[in-house]
Amino acid sequence: MKEFIAIIIFAVMLLSLTVCASAVTGETAPASNVLVAFFSRTGENYGVGVIKKGNTHIIADIIAGKMGAYTFEIARVTPYPEAYRECTDEAKNEKNANARPELTAAVDNFSAYDVVFLGYPNWWGDMPMPVYTFLESYDFSGKTVIPFCTHAGSGLSGTESTIAGMLSGATVLDGLAVAGTTAQNDYDAAEKAVTEWLEKLALEK
Ligand SMILES: Cc1cc2nc3c(=O)[nH]c(=O)nc-3n(C[C@H](O)[C@H](O)[C@H](O)COP(=O)(O)O)c2cc1C
Repeated sequence: MKEFIAIIIFAVMLLSLTVCASAVTGETAPASNVLVAFFSRTGENYGVGVIKKGNTHIIADIIAGKMGAYTFEIARVTPYPEAYRECTDEAKNEKNANARPELTAAVDNFSAYDVVFLGYPNWWGDMPMPVYTFLESYDFSGKTVIPFCTHAGSGLSGTESTIAGMLSGATVLDGLAVAGTTAQNDYDAAEKAVTEWLEKLALEK
């Protein structure tokens, strides 16, 4: 009997060790099939001064909280300048060059996600180029992709169509645009905008 109990305890220990290890390496299927991937920048930004958490990041966290989703930050290996003007200049050059900057990390087990929220700031009426790198790094066939952006007046600037054109095998739903100043300075209004949008998409849990 003692031996039997010892075997059971050993098996349980082994199982929990395996679960811990695979959570670290990302090999198990994620508990949620929804991913919120976003690009967002800290530092000096339009109308909000120097910020510690990017405007789009704030919206990404609201969505992830409501959907019980995982978040993934899309980031360039070389960070963008802290100063606003320097950043706008660099981003413009990168856009004109149609660059695909290298990213800091990749999503574990991307195929396990059915729904991907994709967030970015409006940069020069477009998505930041690291978002292009991200979109070209994975197979989105069969997935539902839901864009959202923060901006300083330009809204989504047709980026939903750009995404739909790039991901022909995916279904791209109507996006959300939130002013960066609202995201940064008026949490309640930002949360309300997200809630109403998710309700319209009939997605909120
Ligand atoms: C490089 C750059 C280009 C931008 N271009 C635009 C633009 O064309 N239209 C617009 O409405 N806002 C523009 N903005 C403002 C950002 O979209 C806005 O501040 C956004 O909320 C920043 O999000 P983040 O804090 O997540 O990076 C630009 C900002 C930067 C840094």
